[in-house]
Amino acid sequence: MFWTAALLLGLIALLLVYSRRRRQRNEPPLDNGIIPWLGHALEFGKDAAKFLTRMKQKHGDIFTVCVAGKYVTVLLDSNSYETVLKDEDCLDATGYAKLLMKKIFDLHLPNHNPKSERNRAQKHFQGNGLTQLRNSMHNNLQLLLTSPEAGLNTAGWKKDGLFSFCYSLLFRAAYLTVFGEHNNAELTEIYEEFRRFDKLLPKLARGTQNKEETKVANSAQGRLWELLTPPSADRNAKDLSWLQSFIQHLQEDGMDAETQRKAMLLQLWVTQGNAGPAAFWVVGFLLTHPEALRAVREEIISVQHLAPEERDKHTPVFDSVLKETLRLTAAALITREVMQDTKISLSDGQEYRLRRGDRLCVFPFLSPQMDPQIHKQPEMFIFERFLNENSTERKDFLKDGRRVKYSIMPWGTGENKCPGRDFAISAIKEFVFTILIQFDLELCEDATMPSVDTSRYGFGMLQPRGDLEIRYRKRS
Ligand SMILES: *[C@@H]1O[C@H](CO)[C@@H](O)[C@H](O)[C@H]1NC(C)=O
Repeated sequence: MFWTAALLLGLIALLLVYSRRRRQRNEPPLDNGIIPWLGHALEFGKDAAKFLTRMKQKHGDIFTVCVAGKYVTVLLDSNSYETVLKDEDCLDATGYAKLLMKKIFDLHLPNHNPKSERNRAQKHFQGNGLTQLRNSMHNNLQLLLTSPEAGLNTAGWKKDGLFSFCYSLLFRAAYLTVFGEHNNAELTEIYEEFRRFDKLLPKLARGTQNKEETKVANSAQGRLWELLTPPSADRNAKDLSWLQSFIQHLQEDGMDAETQRKAMLLQLWVTQGNAGPAAFWVVGFLLTHPEALRAVREEIISVQHLAPEERDKHTPVFDSVLKETLRLTAAALITREVMQDTKISLSDGQEYRLRRGDRLCVFPFLSPQMDPQIHKQPEMFIFERFLNENSTERKDFLKDGRRVKYSIMPWGTGENKCPGRDFAISAIKEFVFTILIQFDLELCEDATMPSVDTSRYGFGMLQPRGDLEIRYRKRS
């Protein structure tokens, strides 16, 4: 009996080893990892930046790794991203997006089309729409800061973690701006449930949540579905908001009320999941780099008399601080499915074959953002990194003596750039300026910048492990 079992196990092991993929001519270097099928899944999930850095040192700018039965080719030559990703027929974005929607948001949108979504968003988050959103963001932030229920309008010092301070305030102001009115108690509940859900997001995406976490995610999701009421829209109204037009489109597609609510949670995450963490890193880096804080304060004073739209064009120091912050903390993986056997060519002229059914990922966080050839001392926060001596925006970054087209890519690349980026930038700017003007902010004794939660590499803006303890007081 024992021998039969041992023989069987041995055979299965042999089968797994022999069914492993072998590298063929003109394919990228292949790394199966030691564990059959699982491959590098554990290391990838734990700290993708560390793992991919190790692979890059071993194999170079392109390689294929086995991750939980899937073969993923990772491309880390940032000069090649745009041309490679242009081939949208061979490298499809929709399938993977749908998979994540299902896994994270339990959402099935059969007609989901990223391109038309982007166009719809573009219409509302740029031009006139952007001006309206910007004004409304300004008003909502003031409203929250002066409303007695929000509890920020007190004269004495208060303590808080900077991450929760920034995230809760920016989330609520942006929620009122994009999703419409809610009373304070409901708004707070939405924020808290959203945070419970957001904390588990990487696990949901990877399918590694345990029973307890599944329960938490389900209850947060369920409550959010109740709280997120689709906006009612007068069908004949001329100016639908972005959200109204999104919901109307779902209705025309025949999606039921439940699906609409699930889709609203997706959009809540898309619009609110990154700005709060980004604002935290900006303010955190400022508080821990006094010379940067001083420079930003001086700039704020010099533009204070201008109207917001005009003001936003004359803030080179803040713009450099924001770019430097995003360089260090924007860490999305861009993933495509290979729809048919194909060839890609890189900027150095090399060609590689990709196999149908595999995935292709690019990771702008490692290249260009943390590439030591492009950015000296890449792990350091240097607030004037994106400034010329004459205070104009610095654009000339070199690699191998050649100017790189993109020195950071926090918003994605080419056609796939985030359509809400201008609104996000202006919201973060409004937020940071407002709290620097209206509050005294200080680090608590011995407070240091927390480390990064490494499980979030691949999912947009990074979040800290722990928080940065601060005290603040409203200025009189
Ligand atoms: C500022 O400096 C940069 C680089 O040194 C230069 O390219 C640019 O023309 C200068 N701009 C002005 C307005 O002087």
